[in-house]
Amino acid sequence: MRARLLPVTDPAALEEAARLLREGRLVVFPTETVYGIGANALDERAVRGIFEAKGRPSDNPLIVHLADARDLPLVAREIPPVARRLAEAFWPGPLTLVLPRTSAVPNVTTGGLDSVAVRVPEHPGARELLRLARVPIAAPSANRSGRPSPTRAIDVLEDLGERVDLVLDGGSARVGVESTVLSLLTSPPTLLRPGGLSVEAIEAVIGPIQVHAAARTGESAAAPSPGMRYRHYAPKARLVLLPAGTDPFPEAERLRAEGRKVAVIAPTERAAPGPDTRLPGSREDGAAWAHALFALLRDLDREGYDTIVIEGIPEAGLGLAVMNRLRKAAAGT
Ligand code: TXA
Ligand code: MG
Repeated sequence: MRARLLPVTDPAALEEAARLLREGRLVVFPTETVYGIGANALDERAVRGIFEAKGRPSDNPLIVHLADARDLPLVAREIPPVARRLAEAFWPGPLTLVLPRTSAVPNVTTGGLDSVAVRVPEHPGARELLRLARVPIAAPSANRSGRPSPTRAIDVLEDLGERVDLVLDGGSARVGVESTVLSLLTSPPTLLRPGGLSVEAIEAVIGPIQVHAAARTGESAAAPSPGMRYRHYAPKARLVLLPAGTDPFPEAERLRAEGRKVAVIAPTERAAPGPDTRLPGSREDGAAWAHALFALLRDLDREGYDTIVIEGIPEAGLGLAVMNRLRKAAAGT
């Protein structure tokens, strides 16, 4: 194990992490959504290191993290009024905005696009790190490409422990799925990736937005967000996703009869106990599902299940992000 693990609440660890980032090194840090693997967004060589560590396709651009919305002009060359309103309402928080980029942001960070994805995270440790680093930080989720995003330090170490020097431990990520990605290059704005901020919350502030088809289903060849094109979030186990409201237990029994080792993930309403069933929350509670989901997929892998049967939940609130991740994960196994 190469990485050192230090608590994100340790001021000396934050100072050291900020120094490493300024020197062009990689640091993993917690955010309120998932853990990120960070590098100076304006340093081409440092950013290249992220792609190498993750095994990430080079045309899949990164999210740039800022300490404060006032730093936006550093990376975005046009800031329309709708961006100001969204920043005012939701930053710091799990919302990423896609805007035209400045020339300060290198091609490697944006995957060659003329736009940049940017957010101000809410996690106090992340905010302090960004403030100390004094540079914008590019940070994708700190998993090997294609794996579920890490929501705990142990998940980061599993994927990247040999590939980074420092991991800041902030415990279990509050939101559990990545930020919502909203493109302001179109009018009305377009949802590119559902995430930790619901469509309903955004529309309450700026009115109706478009939801890109791939943001619902997962896959699209002509997707405007390159991340939509790739397989994602997949555990090692085969994932069988059933529509919301479908009893998962008959399918689980059928697969067990074939000799498979099957776990079931279902809403608490199913209330079926047993060692092989996990109940992340009510089918109405997308936030509870979001918080538990990636950790659960990784834990079930560690416990040796080869098949996971999941009863889906309605696509309201954070349920939209949960179902998007589950569809992508199911497609990848
Ligand atoms: O919650 C999060 O957003 C986490 C934490 C660490 O902040 N980060 C994260 O980054 O999820 P990543 O790299 O795993 O996802 C970035 C997403 C991808 O789907 C990518 O295609 C999209 O944002 N993206 C980045 N820049 C874009 C751009 N200029 N235009 C359209 N999509 C963009
Ligand atoms: Mg990711």
